[in-house]
Amino acid sequence: MKKELAIKLNNVHKSYFLANGDEVPVLKGINLEIKNGEFVALMGESGGGKTTLLNIIGVLHPLSSGEYYLDGENIGEVQDDFTLAYIRNKKMGFVFQQFNLYLRLTALKNISLPALYAGQERQVREKKAMELMESVGIKNRAEYKPTELSGGQQQRVSICRSLINDPEILLADEPTGALDSKSGLEIMKIFSDLKKRGKTIIMVTHTSEVAKYADRVIFLRDGKVVDNDYKLTSHY
Ligand SMILES: Nc1ncnc2c1ncn2[C@@H]1O[C@H](COP(=O)(O)OP(=O)(O)OP(=O)(O)O)[C@@H](O)[C@H]1O
Ligand SMILES: [Mg+2]
Repeated sequence: MKKELAIKLNNVHKSYFLANGDEVPVLKGINLEIKNGEFVALMGESGGGKTTLLNIIGVLHPLSSGEYYLDGENIGEVQDDFTLAYIRNKKMGFVFQQFNLYLRLTALKNISLPALYAGQERQVREKKAMELMESVGIKNRAEYKPTELSGGQQQRVSICRSLINDPEILLADEPTGALDSKSGLEIMKIFSDLKKRGKTIIMVTHTSEVAKYADRVIFLRDGKVVDNDYKLTSHY
């Protein structure tokens, strides 16, 4: 049975180390719980550690100390790259501010690529990619390359790509940061639909208009959570 909590962090610290050996402490004791099916926004000052925290949750970076429970399992001390990549590929979908699409591949190929890596046959992965494109209104752009698409369309492509392997958790770092406000709000409608379909979403944003779509806002400041249940008026 699915656990109620998707993510639990206990006293998580993270430091980076510079080439000269200096320690840069970034996360300074993060305690956090995120339930399965929740849509949370992560806000806070620039340099406060939001991307770092998202990368830790996404198992892209190791933590320096503390505990990380994913679906009830302590994965904070797992060091084996193969296991970490497996967790990441199976459970996490990533959406970035700058889309990170392959410019030489069509929308369809960009979206299908993670399914290719996961070993899916072409027919299966391209059918799934087409269904995802249809669900976000870009089915007629399947053969376009990223430079032939608007920013909002490119972000939809990257959302489809993040969903192709059916992750439980969607991690989005300023997904509307490169978009005009209308396109940004369209992306938020897609996120709201994904939440309704049971996805857990963790989204970094600097914009309260965008954060309003989340169930609650977690505020980070100087590497600590200063509020984990801030409510902005909901849009839906
Ligand atoms: N690889 C790294 N090596 C050393 N320091 C780093 C590294 N990555 C990030 N930092 C430092 O960690 C701090 C937090 O960075 P992070 O990217 O998590 O902030 P953020 O909250 O996402 O900021 P922004 O809102 O500007 O994106 C910054 O002070 C940054 O200089
Ligand atoms: Mg950031």
